[in-house]
Amino acid sequence: MGKLSRVALLYIGAVVVAAAVLVARGPFTGLRWQYVIFLGILVIVSESRATQLRKGQLTWSSSSAPMLASVVLVGPVGAAIVGACTALGLRRGPHILQRVFNTAMYALSAYLAGRAFLALGGHVGLPNEKLFPKIIAPFAGAALIHVAANHGLLSGVLWLTRPADRMPSGVGIGLSARLVLSDLGYAAYGLLMAALWSVVGFFAPLLVLIPLFVARWAVAQFAEQQKAYEATVGALCQAVETKDFYTRGHSDRVSRGSVMIAREIGMRGERVEAIRYAGMLHDVGKLGVPTKVLQKTGKLTEEEYAAIQLHPMRGLDIVREIGFLDEALAGIMHHHERIDGRGYPMGLAGDEIPEFARVLAVADAFDSMTSTRSYRGARPVEEAIKELRRWSGTQFDPAFVDAFVAALKREGWQRPEPPVLATDDLPAAPAQDHDDPGAPLRVDSR
Ligand SMILES: [Fe+2]
Repeated sequence: MGKLSRVALLYIGAVVVAAAVLVARGPFTGLRWQYVIFLGILVIVSESRATQLRKGQLTWSSSSAPMLASVVLVGPVGAAIVGACTALGLRRGPHILQRVFNTAMYALSAYLAGRAFLALGGHVGLPNEKLFPKIIAPFAGAALIHVAANHGLLSGVLWLTRPADRMPSGVGIGLSARLVLSDLGYAAYGLLMAALWSVVGFFAPLLVLIPLFVARWAVAQFAEQQKAYEATVGALCQAVETKDFYTRGHSDRVSRGSVMIAREIGMRGERVEAIRYAGMLHDVGKLGVPTKVLQKTGKLTEEEYAAIQLHPMRGLDIVREIGFLDEALAGIMHHHERIDGRGYPMGLAGDEIPEFARVLAVADAFDSMTSTRSYRGARPVEEAIKELRRWSGTQFDPAFVDAFVAALKREGWQRPEPPVLATDDLPAAPAQDHDDPGAPLRVDSR
């Protein structure tokens, strides 16, 4: 967490005060402390072994199982104390304020789940077979409230503490939806733990948590794999930007624009993720174009022009063996095709052009137009939109132009800072950009 706004601090303060007041009110008489302590230890162990799902943000732990078991075994106040044990999790990283918020959030959601359990007719204590299946409905209600409170409070704090220039990404939203569903599924382990308790006593958590820890390990492998993907894509992007200094940041912004279009047209989560990679890597083929051609300040020769037109194919050659890119490969290969069939490298037209490529083409041209180039200043967003509309139906797919304009109106666009001027240490800025629809590459055809 960086410097927080006053609203964010007020929000965190309100959650902490609400949790503290509800726990302090009790009642504590009749509370089975041996269960509270044991379940609290399980929460601490689960939190200490939490798996990070996205850099700096979401983590997943199996602590919801003991928290929901405590709803049944010790009631709302006991469950809130068990939830508050997350504070003692031996996890490196979280900022102190983040840890305080997490503690209050878990205490509050466990308390509310406990209240829901009672309100729906649940009975606090060791459940025996006579309580089944009657207990299932109040437990399901408690689990729903637990997950809703948890994710609601968390979404609130993530929203209020997001960086000013960042909208929540479709990928992040998709991941949260999946987390909600998996949390609801894992909540059932809470009831299993409580039910087993009456049969095998304190061994119940072991029987439940061992398979959960195995599941956690599998989730960790997935998260590691995602990190490796990000690193691979990041390294390739860095290589392109080192070679073509004056378009740095372009890949990132094309990726962002493509994701905006993808979300606008309702692409499903995995495809949005794939198009994000496609945007990052669409110009990776520049690695196969001689640097002197990319940085040429004058007109291109026929051969140089041909070399630039080959970059989508070169890009495909470079990344085709990277399995996870999948549909992104078609986007990379065809991002310079035009709807009227006058693009390159294959001259495909209309629907022959893969959908990813048609999306990338719009975001690619838009970012080029709204970035500063040596031969012109950055165009205002409105002017770039007009230009997209002008070429809609000939160069661009009209449906994706419309989708992008709608997303831009809602989310806005952060234009890049003007680049540093050429100095002795830097190459001269090229006087053309192959992505600029308003300034075709100049070719010396003598
Ligand atoms: Fe390109």
